[in-house]
Amino acid sequence: VTESSSIRATFSVPYDYEVLFTRDVLDAENPTLREALAPGARVLPVLDAGLVEHHPGLADAFVAYAAAHRERIDLAAHPLVLPGGEAVKEDPRHVGTVLEAIEEHAIDRHAYVVAIGGGAFLDAVGFAATIAHRGVRMIRLPSTVLAQNDAGIGVKNGINAFAKKNFVGAFAPPAAVINDAELLTTLSDRDWRAGTSEAVKVALLRDAAFFAELEDLAYPITQRDPEAMGRLIHRCAELHLQHIAGAGDPFELGSARPLDFGHWAAHKLEKLSGHGLRHGEAVAIGIALDTTYALLAGILGEEDWRRAIGLLESLGFELTAPELDDPALLDGLVEFREHLGGELTITVIDAIGSQLDVHEINPRLMRATVSALRGAIGARV
Ligand SMILES: NC(=O)c1ccc[n+]([C@@H]2O[C@H](COP(=O)([O-])OP(=O)(O)OC[C@H]3O[C@@H](n4cnc5c(N)ncnc54)[C@H](O)[C@@H]3O)[C@@H](O)[C@H]2O)c1
Ligand SMILES: [Zn+2]
Repeated sequence: VTESSSIRATFSVPYDYEVLFTRDVLDAENPTLREALAPGARVLPVLDAGLVEHHPGLADAFVAYAAAHRERIDLAAHPLVLPGGEAVKEDPRHVGTVLEAIEEHAIDRHAYVVAIGGGAFLDAVGFAATIAHRGVRMIRLPSTVLAQNDAGIGVKNGINAFAKKNFVGAFAPPAAVINDAELLTTLSDRDWRAGTSEAVKVALLRDAAFFAELEDLAYPITQRDPEAMGRLIHRCAELHLQHIAGAGDPFELGSARPLDFGHWAAHKLEKLSGHGLRHGEAVAIGIALDTTYALLAGILGEEDWRRAIGLLESLGFELTAPELDDPALLDGLVEFREHLGGELTITVIDAIGSQLDVHEINPRLMRATVSALRGAIGARV
């Protein structure tokens, strides 16, 4: 008989970072970025090409900012520009390009990658920064609504593989996040709107007062009012960070993903549409679907259902898509479970501001939900 024994290692790693709000982050007079960096830091800037198209002076502005603060910032290279949008997560070669730049320009674990771009871009560049030297520092400057209120402020990085969203990735908190409101002015109406669905999501799950506020903010937001959008982004980001920092499972070791309301369908719809649907647009449909499912399952009352659908519509979202009829839609449930592991856990709402986990989705009822949602939307127009 062999003797067995063990040695235990128990530890936790503290994380602490800030999401800073500012305007014109690359104005030489603006100290936000300089102060977010350790003194003398070496910096590799990486820019989203879709953003640069609308801000052609961005690379030069970065170089000028670094020159104005040369006592603090050691610019390692001229900014690297890479494609943005889902394309950057679909082709792993872009991660390779960032890794090459990190190697070539000697970005070590005390140096920074500073990435400016949309959620997809930050996910991919963040993944490269996370795996280079097992993690170099990263500062994110999100440039879309969705990135400023959700994708760019959290702890997840990754790219797509095997026709699955975020199949390859890692948890790694940023050194800091800087939300520059000015960057959002050049968004298309589609991208301006898309990120608002994540705010509706957290409001429905956790904050009835914020939901009511969003009902008032919806019209000014459709008129591109920056203050109304600023409020939506700030509260949405706050609710996401409270969850990450305060709910006890920042790296999603459990089987639940409580902030992923509507996301099992959203991720599948994005794929089925060949990424014709933006993440935020797919999330709006996913929320409408699971809200309607909750209504039909007798979990949610009709008045709250009406308000939820009404808010998404007044923000301008299309709440149905041809992909809802694809028999493969329900595979999204299996894939969602597999991504997390453990028991299937789908978050729904039983009232505005109140979430509930269910562990079973009835496929027949879900198919009936698609027709009911279509009927309900059709009845309004
Ligand atoms: N890591 C996370 O926790 C997390 C959370 C939610 C979503 N996501 C991911 O985020 C991605 C969606 O991000 P998104 O909604 O920001 O879209 P996106 O990154 O696809 O960007 C949309 C488009 O806007 C362009 N763009 C970026 N900034 C611009 C600007 N200021 N002006 C004009 N154009 C600009 C981009 O080049 C792109 O073409 C998805 O891949 C999703 O899976 C990640
Ligand atoms: Zn999302």
